Amino acid sequence: MTKTVMLLNGPNLNLLGKRQPEIYGRETLADVEAMAKKAAAAHGLALRPHQSNAEHQIIDWIHEARETAQAIVINPGAFTHTSIAILDALNAFEGPVLEVHISNVHKRESFRHHSYVSLRADGVIAGFGVQGYVLAIERMATLLKRG
Ligand code: DQA
Repeated sequence: MTKTVMLLNGPNLNLLGKRQPEIYGRETLADVEAMAKKAAAAHGLALRPHQSNAEHQIIDWIHEARETAQAIVINPGAFTHTSIAILDALNAFEGPVLEVHISNVHKRESFRHHSYVSLRADGVIAGFGVQGYVLAIERMATLLKRG
């Protein structure tokens, strides 16, 4: 059976490529999803990408992943730093979870230094630009082979 990785992007990431390109780069969300799909396919994995600006929608997708995906790669955007509800939803998901941040959050404002999602994530990538998504998919392929 082909394993599926759900790729979740949170608020404002729909503006990738247009929003603060000096921080987040010039690639669009469509570019990121295409790169991640290609990386997944190279490892025989399917990728199901979603983006939302709404916390409840991200939680609903994580619930859906319990039945339909084997792993989650998530960039929760600013919800990283605020959302106990997303942490709780991820705690109800049994497969591996990797957290991605395009920017190096530790080099930025102190409110970005704490992540609720990191309490659940099996690994965190920050500051690798959009390449971080590809690296996360590659790591996920390793984790899924083990499991
Ligand atoms: C981000 C970092 C967050 O602090 C910020 O709120 C984002 C994007 C990143 O990818 O670097 O929206 O998750």
